[in-house]
Amino acid sequence: MTDQLTVIVLAAGGGTRMKSKTPKVLHRIGGRSMIGHVLAAVGSLEPHRVVTVVGHQRELVAPHITELLPEAVLAVQEEQLGTGHAVRIALEALGDVPRAGTVLIAYGDTPLLEGATLRAFTESHRGAQAAVSILSGIVADPHGYGRIVRDAEGGVEAIVEEKDATDAQRAITEINSGILAFDAAFLLDCIGRIDNDNSKGEYYLTDAVGLAHRDGLTVAAHAVDDALQTEGANDRVQLAELGRELNRRIVTRWMASGVTVMDPATTWIDADAVLAADVTILPGTQVLGKTVIAEDAVVGPDTTLQDCEIGAGARVVRTHGQLAVIGAGATVGPFAYLRPGTLLGANGKIGTFVETKNAQIGEGAKVPHLSYVGDAEIGEGTNIGAGTIFANYDGSAKHRTKVGRFAKTGSNNTFVAPVEIGDGAGTGGGTVVRRNVPPGALAVSGGPQRNLPGWAQSKRPGTAQAEAAAAAGKDEQSGNG
Ligand code: UD1
Ligand code: CA
Repeated sequence: MTDQLTVIVLAAGGGTRMKSKTPKVLHRIGGRSMIGHVLAAVGSLEPHRVVTVVGHQRELVAPHITELLPEAVLAVQEEQLGTGHAVRIALEALGDVPRAGTVLIAYGDTPLLEGATLRAFTESHRGAQAAVSILSGIVADPHGYGRIVRDAEGGVEAIVEEKDATDAQRAITEINSGILAFDAAFLLDCIGRIDNDNSKGEYYLTDAVGLAHRDGLTVAAHAVDDALQTEGANDRVQLAELGRELNRRIVTRWMASGVTVMDPATTWIDADAVLAADVTILPGTQVLGKTVIAEDAVVGPDTTLQDCEIGAGARVVRTHGQLAVIGAGATVGPFAYLRPGTLLGANGKIGTFVETKNAQIGEGAKVPHLSYVGDAEIGEGTNIGAGTIFANYDGSAKHRTKVGRFAKTGSNNTFVAPVEIGDGAGTGGGTVVRRNVPPGALAVSGGPQRNLPGWAQSKRPGTAQAEAAAAAGKDEQSGNG
């Protein structure tokens, strides 16, 4: 199709039922705001222009829209006088709308909306050469929706809003989803003819349908088979319901493309995450933000990854990670905390009760147990002993620690940054490293061990400790030690 597509997204309304300081369309499910989902669906049509109508809390809504879609035109509707008024404002903000084009109207609070649905609707509208097309639905409970009123021949005659409907019209279950497609020339012509002579005193965009019918123009209705796609979330209960449904759809899509999800009910995958075939997700796992997981990786159980990159065949168990990159074949957890800037090389290990931050850990390097690694670089093949603290903070500033390649550091070490441990170097157990360790050297910082014989018997007489020590002494004398 060569004619130009303009999309108007209405998002000026309040949303009082959210009972929130956050505007309704900014509430999030699936890792995006509601309007973010709508703009993604709209964007997939590659429209010529997109205009969003903002009003309520536009100081929060407008910057969010600009961030997601910088080319979107923002139209400000100071007072919410109705959907017809909102569209008029949008057209004014656009200026020159080509009369040969199509104008699609959507709402900012329908997060399950998909681009494919909009595309099919737009194509059917163009195919019918209609002045206006309604994305319609048949619902069990039509309460609150505009009803589609048909004439004796079955043609669409008008949309009647709930508050203006007769009892007979209220019984109609064919409804307006809210998404409409217009022939641009007709929209430009009719928008000024819509009045507010109705029970709400609002300019109803839906009156355009009756106007087209009276003008003898074609009105088409295209039934949406997946009604949830046009459902809005007005309160937090509906938000959670749509969130769960969105997640179910996302998880199902990944399973269909070859991801094993052991427990879809406890697995949450955001809309922007990407999983390769043969990834396995174990129960209680959240794959959030723009997280990318490569093939054969196994993630979970009970793991949260936000904007992480997990390499092929990696294993991530009971881990909380954010902005971390895990190499192919590496292992993480159980009980690891990966903070931003963590980079683990291929086949490396971040083990149990380990916290990492701004830490580049080389290929095959290991931090297996009970450690904090902050502001560090660890070379390939190096092993960090259990219970090591990279002391990066001197109370006022952060400093880096560098450990070279194939080093072996002892248990319970403290590396007081800034400090460097050379390639192939080592440290003894309990070492506090304050000065650089040259390549190949062994650093030990504690003094030589002193034993004070008979200390327990002389300093703790009469205790179980002293008795045990005395008994051991007798055994030694009788040669049983
Ligand atoms: C509207 C339709 C109705 C349809 C229903 C589907 C009209 C007159 N009615 O009714 O036929 O069945 O949606 O959900 O169009 N908005 C503005 N500015 C305004 C008024 C509304 O931007 O002045 C925005 C709202 O933020 C919202 C959308 O338009 O995103 C719909 O407005 P709403 O008041 O919810 O319309 P309904 O009465 O539900
Ligand atoms: Ca509504």
